Amino acid sequence: MALAEDLPKIVTGQVPGPKAKEILERRDAAVPKALCGQTYPVVIERGAGPIVKDVDGNEFLDWIGGVGVLNIGYSHPEVIEAVKEQSEKYFHTIFNVICHEGYIKLAEGLNKLIPCRGDVKKTYFANSGAECDENAIKVAKSYTHRGGVICFTGAFHGRTNLTMALTAKKAFAQGMGPFPAEIYRAPYPYLYRAPKGYSEEEAIQYYLNGLKKVFDEGIPANEVACMIVEPLQGEGGFIPAPIEWVKAVRKICDDNGILLIADEVQCGNCRTGKYFASEYWAEAGAAPDIVTTAKSIAAGMPLSAITARAEIMDAVPAGTIGGTYCGNPVSVAAGNKVMEIYLRDDFPAKARHIGEMVMGRYKELQKKYPVIGDVRGLGAMIGIEFVRDPETKEPATKFTANLIQCALQKGLLIENAGTASNIIRFLAPLVMTDEQTEKGLEIFEESIKEALAMGL
Ligand SMILES: Cc1ncc(COP(=O)(O)O)c(C=O)c1O
Repeated sequence: MALAEDLPKIVTGQVPGPKAKEILERRDAAVPKALCGQTYPVVIERGAGPIVKDVDGNEFLDWIGGVGVLNIGYSHPEVIEAVKEQSEKYFHTIFNVICHEGYIKLAEGLNKLIPCRGDVKKTYFANSGAECDENAIKVAKSYTHRGGVICFTGAFHGRTNLTMALTAKKAFAQGMGPFPAEIYRAPYPYLYRAPKGYSEEEAIQYYLNGLKKVFDEGIPANEVACMIVEPLQGEGGFIPAPIEWVKAVRKICDDNGILLIADEVQCGNCRTGKYFASEYWAEAGAAPDIVTTAKSIAAGMPLSAITARAEIMDAVPAGTIGGTYCGNPVSVAAGNKVMEIYLRDDFPAKARHIGEMVMGRYKELQKKYPVIGDVRGLGAMIGIEFVRDPETKEPATKFTANLIQCALQKGLLIENAGTASNIIRFLAPLVMTDEQTEKGLEIFEESIKEALAMGL
């Protein structure tokens, strides 16, 4: 059987095995400590589909997928071929000096697919999620001639100076200031943690009141260029923005000449059961003005994109956007092939199928284990939140850390999210077979039992 269809297996008794151990020791000596996390002692030899084979022959089922980069799985043969083919022609041109057709083809494809406002859309490329978000803010400032930006609690937008300022969790920005001015934070609609006793409608109104307060106490609405929202918050805890809240935010933006940016870096590219999560917004009449996307756009090749209607994009003065590697021909070749496969093989449907299996089982587990406070998500982007007590909702941070370790030792890779690191995010490659999904869910439940025995 091909590696891509294998079930997880640990052959070394304990992870890491001897070869991985030796490489990790070299890592610790050669690489800054900040990048040498101890949570996952995994050293890859090969990846295929949703499976990672390590240097000792252990095989892991990967539900992290490079944190949302591998919707298409590891080593998709057609993507490998596309990258090889492009590499043999040329690796690099700086796009504003020498144009290459692959860039234009992918821009045209995204202009068709991205559900932002406007009949005529334009796209340009950057290299990472942080870069595309930073570019979207630059575009919004250029178009509106305003300087203010509103971001949200729980948000994660990256690690450049501007995006660290936009990112909520300050552990990601420790000692890194000063940050750019004119950035204001409003509450993101985290329904599970709304004030006790509130109905969904009341909770949404509560969060909207918090947003409106920013205009009274932070920055007047007519000085705000844009709001940046993750349609389904990733790092913040896998929290979908309720559509009624999005509709109200869209109206606030329209009433005040503010552009609405959807950050689809993590939730885009078929993850949520639509090609882009903001399709759910567009269907409700609340399409964003600008969409950013990265991660699963090119199967792991560095690439990100910014899309908006032509009127907005063409307001940007020459010289203010672009960069040496932006829209690199090899990354773009991967991006074009990935898009062809997502459309041909209906990846949004794959996300819905896997999502139904996982969501169904998580809901069953929730009935059995009070430590599971909440289960939520869209398509195959699912968060499961662990609490010490379902009444107080106190985060079960230690339990979640133990759960990750128990799963790892059984061959399942899972990652946390949320400010208190008490949520497990589901981001498995969408090429996972039903048998692999079932096996992963089985390991997940066994790991819950084992972590419970270790205490809350
Ligand atoms: C929603 C969102 N925006 C932006 C980023 C930053 O992306 P990158 O790490 O590629 O800079 C991330 C990364 O996790 C993300 O999840």
